[in-house]
Amino acid sequence: MQRIFSGIQPSGVPTLGNYLGAIRNWVSLQDGHECLYCLVDLHAITTWQDPAELRVQTRTQAAILLASGIDPVRHVLFNQSAVSAHARLAWIFNCVARIGWLNRMTQFKDKAGKDREAASAGLYVYPNLMAADIHAYHATRVPVGDDQRQHLELANDIAQKFNHDYGVDFFPAIEAVVPPQAARVMSLRDGSRKMSKSDPSDQSRINLTDDADAIAQKIRRARTDAEPLPSEEDGLVGRPEARNLVSILAALTDRSVSAVLAEHGGQGFGVFKPALAERVAAVVAPIAAEARRLLDDPAHLDAMLRDGAARANAIAEPIVREAEHIVGFLR
Ligand code: TYM
Repeated sequence: MQRIFSGIQPSGVPTLGNYLGAIRNWVSLQDGHECLYCLVDLHAITTWQDPAELRVQTRTQAAILLASGIDPVRHVLFNQSAVSAHARLAWIFNCVARIGWLNRMTQFKDKAGKDREAASAGLYVYPNLMAADIHAYHATRVPVGDDQRQHLELANDIAQKFNHDYGVDFFPAIEAVVPPQAARVMSLRDGSRKMSKSDPSDQSRINLTDDADAIAQKIRRARTDAEPLPSEEDGLVGRPEARNLVSILAALTDRSVSAVLAEHGGQGFGVFKPALAERVAAVVAPIAAEARRLLDDPAHLDAMLRDGAARANAIAEPIVREAEHIVGFLR
């Protein structure tokens, strides 16, 4: 059985983008794979997080993942910092990856902004830690949104260079599993920016903790143009906001963009937006309600994460010890 690994940063409440780009796939891949899903708190602190808030967000994300259908008994759900193998392998990968490779990472450029010198060193080596997350388990399939593709290519380059430099065939190749629709959900306020849990504007995103009223209000206010929807996909060229809303509905109803336009083409947004809001709420509101119920018992969530970390550790520890042996560390 192939092993799956994926992660999400507990740096805010997960959004509809996280759900459609990743979490929904995480749930469906549970059939037929052995899955490890990780709340990547080491990655989260590459930009400053309030410590109390980080603990709350980590629990909230665990609750949302359970409410979305992640099964922590058949599979493994845990937080990254609780398994030391991640940080140890990341250090080895810091010494394998080349600075030139990291300089090409578009996410670093986006996140660091104009003042790159002021970004944390952790943000710069972030992709090496991601590679370590995956390779510490010898995982081969990684369900992610489109924005993580470049990081996964780097994870393959690192594995290849490690194998080559040490003359071993130790780390396997990995494959990104990216959904056919909504692999990059855009902001509701600006069709050129990704929907993000760290966007300062709450109106830019649907949170997986939003209720039906909040969802309806955010979609009603979502930025659009004044034209009705086209009946064919070509008509979406140059209309990023319209494309985004249509793609969201396509993903939620498991259809292509052209199938959605065949039904809704010619409609104005006054008609389309309520139909979309209803579909979004039908998926998100039950997740939000179940997550709220689970958050009433934080001790249970913490125990579930501890159990996940112990099981993750049992897989990663022998693999990372072997990597440490390969590079020549004495034990
Ligand atoms: P993060 O926390 O930014 O996002 C978690 C997952 O959600 C996807 N995603 C989106 N998909 C579609 N549209 C969007 N607007 C959108 N925003 C986020 C992301 O692609 C991701 O799959 N570096 C990763 C976390 C990570 C990881 C790993 C992933 C750490 N180690 C190892 C895979 C394997 C990240 O920041 O995800």
